[in-house]
Amino acid sequence: LENQQHPKVLKGKNVLITAGPTREKIDPVRYFTNPSTGKMGFALARQAAFLGAEVTLITGPVNLTAPAGVKRIDVITAEDMYNQVLEHFSTNDIVIKAAAVADYRPKQTFAQKMKKQPGEYTVEMERTKDILAELGKRKEHQYLIGFAAETNDVERYGREKLAKKNLDAIVINNVSEADSGFGHDTNSSLFITKQGRETTFPVISKDEMARQILMKSLEELGW
Ligand code: CTP
Ligand code: CA
Repeated sequence: LENQQHPKVLKGKNVLITAGPTREKIDPVRYFTNPSTGKMGFALARQAAFLGAEVTLITGPVNLTAPAGVKRIDVITAEDMYNQVLEHFSTNDIVIKAAAVADYRPKQTFAQKMKKQPGEYTVEMERTKDILAELGKRKEHQYLIGFAAETNDVERYGREKLAKKNLDAIVINNVSEADSGFGHDTNSSLFITKQGRETTFPVISKDEMARQILMKSLEELGW
C-alpha cells in the first residue's frame, strides 16, 4: 500500500543532502558549534531514499543513524564539509543544504590544551567558506535548495538568500518559534521557489516536511 501511495518517483536520480552542525576547534578540548541535531537533513535523506533516489548524506557530528541504503559521509568542520560537498556536487541532480554550517572559526587552532588564565580571553575568528553560495556559482543541471535559519525579518532575509546564492528554492525557518527548528521533531517553514511560488508548511513532522519539500521540487522540475 505504501508503495502504491508513494511510487519511486526519484528512481535513477542522485540526491545530495547535508545535515547537522559543524564544529570549529580552538584546542583539543574546546570548539564552537550550534544547536543543530541533524534531524531535518536525516529526514530528507530518509524520504529521498524512500522515493527511490540514490542518496549521499554529508553530515556534521550528530547522534543519528543513517537511513538504510543511504551513503553517509561524516565531516567535522565547515572546511571538511565544503570539500566533500564540492567533490560530490557534479554527479547529483537535487542538492539540499539543511546543514547548519559555522560562519566563523577560530583563526588559530592550538595543538595543546590552553590553560586558563585569570581575566578575559578573546578568540579571534575568521570567516568560513559559504558552501551554498559556491554551489550557486557552479550550478549546471542541479536543482539547488537552501535553508534559512532566521529569528526576525524571516521572510525578507530568506528571500535575500534565495536570490543572492542563486538557489532554485529555499526553506525558510523561523528558529525562534515553538515546535520548530533546532532539535525539534516538528518544523514549520515557508518554501519559496526562484519563480516566486510560495508554499507554507504549518507545524508538521520533519519527515512529512521532507517528503513535501521533495514532492514540491519534483513538481517544479516537471519530473
Ligand atoms: N551555508 C553554507 N555554508 C556556510 C553557511 C551557510 O552552505 N558557510 C548554507 C546553509 O547550509 C543554509 C544556507 O546557507 O542552507 C543559509 O544558512 P544561514 O545560516 O541561514 O544563512 P547565512 O548565509 O549563513 O547568513 P546568516 O547566518 O548571516 O543569516
Ligand atoms: Ca549562517
